[in-house]
Amino acid sequence: MRKLYIAGNWKMNLVPSEAAKYAKELAAATKDAKVKIMIAPTAVCLPAVAEAVKGSKVIVAAQNVNDHEKGAYTGEISCAMLKDIGVTNVILGHSERRQYYGETNEFINKKVLFALANGMDIDLCVGETLEEREGGKLEKVLSDQINIGLDGVTPEQMAHVTIAYEPVWAIGTGKTATPEDANSAHAFIRGLIEKKFGKTVAENQIIQYGGSVKPSNVKELMACEHIDGALVGGASLTLDQFLPIINC
Ligand code: PGA
Repeated sequence: MRKLYIAGNWKMNLVPSEAAKYAKELAAATKDAKVKIMIAPTAVCLPAVAEAVKGSKVIVAAQNVNDHEKGAYTGEISCAMLKDIGVTNVILGHSERRQYYGETNEFINKKVLFALANGMDIDLCVGETLEEREGGKLEKVLSDQINIGLDGVTPEQMAHVTIAYEPVWAIGTGKTATPEDANSAHAFIRGLIEKKFGKTVAENQIIQYGGSVKPSNVKELMACEHIDGALVGGASLTLDQFLPIINC
């Protein structure tokens, strides 16, 4: 039985004082939640948010991490720095990083391997653009993102990997994939995981859906066989919106 996993990607929103206040409220409001909950504030908010949710059910993730231990990498953040402030999760390969910062599957794979080797749990984002979907390239794009992104990962390490299927055309646009379309992409991804890591890993694999998830559409998405949670952007920024999604 796969446990529902609801995550909030705050992207470049909220200043540290706002983030800490909201995180504290979220931690208090989710004391009895039955689902796994994660929030990913921007790097500068991580210490305050990690402190605010200490001892609660809320897991804190970074939105990115560097693929080296330490050294001359201006502007970057290491796994050791995250772990030192109690952050053990990281989102990798988000489409905004692929689109705006040129991250390739090969580069994302380096971070995946490094983060896992350093004991972190990762949330690997995959998903196609509208052009790719309409051009019949959905399966090729997802196969490359999964096969290259997870190259060299062991079946044992997959217990520390969550996959988030986020069709790029649905992110921040208000357009959601239909539950049928999302479920069929998730089923395809589960098939790729089975081919690469075997049946047991595939059956246990948590695959979140992301892209304009909100209180009004979360139930029908989560009811789909292969959808095991959500990675929420815009609607994770306020308790009013995020709590009904968690309690869906
Ligand atoms: P959205 O973002 O919910 O605002 O569409 C989702 C994401 O990018 O993770």
